Amino acid sequence: MLPFLTQTKIYALALLIHLSSSPVASGQACGCSSTILPVHVDVLLPKDPTDPFGGLKSNASSLRRLNETYDIFGVFCQPKTAQSTGQLKFCSGGVVLNFFVDVVQLLVHGFTYTYQYWSPATEEFRNQSYTDFACDRGLSSFAIDLVGVGLSSRPANASDVQYATHSTVASQLARHLKTTSILPGVQPFKKVIGIGHSAGSATLIFGAITEADQSPFDGLILTGNLIIEPGTLLTIPGVTSARDDTPLRWGALDPDYTTTNNRSIFYPTDPTSFSPRMPIFDAFTKDVGTVATFPQLSVSSLTANYTGPVAKVVGSEDQGFCTGTDRCDDVAALTATERVLWPEAKSFQVIVAPGSGHCMNLDFLANGPFSTFVDLVNQFVAL
Ligand SMILES: *[C@@H]1O[C@H](CO)[C@@H](O)[C@H](O)[C@H]1NC(C)=O
Ligand SMILES: *[C@@H]1O[C@H](CO)[C@@H](O)[C@H](O)[C@H]1NC(C)=O
Ligand SMILES: *[C@@H]1O[C@H](CO)[C@@H](O)[C@H](O)[C@H]1NC(C)=O
Ligand SMILES: *[C@@H]1O[C@H](CO)[C@@H](O)[C@H](O)[C@H]1NC(C)=O
Ligand SMILES: *[C@@H]1O[C@H](CO)[C@@H](O)[C@H](O)[C@H]1NC(C)=O
Ligand SMILES: *[C@@H]1O[C@H](CO)[C@@H](O)[C@H](O)[C@H]1NC(C)=O
Repeated sequence: MLPFLTQTKIYALALLIHLSSSPVASGQACGCSSTILPVHVDVLLPKDPTDPFGGLKSNASSLRRLNETYDIFGVFCQPKTAQSTGQLKFCSGGVVLNFFVDVVQLLVHGFTYTYQYWSPATEEFRNQSYTDFACDRGLSSFAIDLVGVGLSSRPANASDVQYATHSTVASQLARHLKTTSILPGVQPFKKVIGIGHSAGSATLIFGAITEADQSPFDGLILTGNLIIEPGTLLTIPGVTSARDDTPLRWGALDPDYTTTNNRSIFYPTDPTSFSPRMPIFDAFTKDVGTVATFPQLSVSSLTANYTGPVAKVVGSEDQGFCTGTDRCDDVAALTATERVLWPEAKSFQVIVAPGSGHCMNLDFLANGPFSTFVDLVNQFVAL
């Protein structure tokens, strides 16, 4: 039935059983439900979690096996009009797709964020919800909490949480979305587009490298991520052990779970470009990453033989990548540099969103990048 799958992966699919669902509040256009899916991860990790390439360049003696099953929390949102038929059909290799029911976006957050990055759970920021924006345009989404984060399983040992772990989870879920009904009444999808932010983009890149033409993703939109050579890491101020930062919440955690007490780098330097209440809300809802999160970002400097369409979207005011350098000024030059790492991609483009910061979903200009994401999904499913 699925000849390319290994025994391990078949086992994983068998384990992906729908556990529970409950309604989640959202805007008028969306019907949302939360769910928890068990995902089996059987991967090789570098014994040293600060290995810049996440084990991709390691020999056998410096790797160890991780064989665990984690519960992954996610919120699935579907346009309320999803069941209406005959709208927005696209041709794809001779196949007619119904945009509403055949396409889903898998949304992967970045460091210290959760699924809420894609839909801040407060009325004031309802117009900064990408999941709502997408629903309004007929697009479903599944926004997850990565392993160790939010309402997903948190391994006792933070060194189990590396990009190999995250990327296996993302790919297993993409396969699940294509083969199984994620919730009652929701058919399996024909196309899954992965959209990552920052460390979530590195998660998708890791899978694009390891799975190449076997990737379950029909397109990748990598936001808040450019090539990161080893030794040129982002400097995020205030990164500290989560247990020291917020003992009430995280006092019992392995010290290698980290967070940040200074969110300024995630926003443009111009304070009028975002609500002063957004960083406050952001600080209330922040979560954790692990010591592996930063050094292993250098997977973003490796070649991926992924064969689907790829786009990178970065804010011109991204303090981690663009401001203080001329890197993002010449988009053609930036595109040429980045394209080298995607030799087999069906298409490749870089979009610099003017005025947006690193967390482009969280500032006043968010609707610009949101339109870009939806346009890219439209392009990708039509390919
Ligand atoms: C394996 O990699 C480790 C770490 O890079 C290195 O110290 C060791 O010499 C390598 N072993 C072999 C057999 O190449
Ligand atoms: C991996 O984990 C699964 C599920 O817990 C278990 O059945 C299997 O025996 C494990 N494999 C090895 C080699 O430990
Ligand atoms: C976490 O696991 C690694 C690899 O098995 C081990 O070296 C390390 O001592 C563990 N750390 C803790 C806090 O248990
Ligand atoms: C946060 O980091 C920025 C950039 O490093 C720094 O200018 C600012 O003073 C820091 N804010 C706090 C409250 O420490
Ligand atoms: C990508 O393909 C090239 C050419 O076949 C090959 O040399 C390279 O090792 C591949 N890269 C990966 C990461 O598999
Ligand atoms: C959201 O609404 C507020 C208040 O009307 C407005 O200032 C802001 O620009 C809007 N944000 C987006 C992303 O549209």
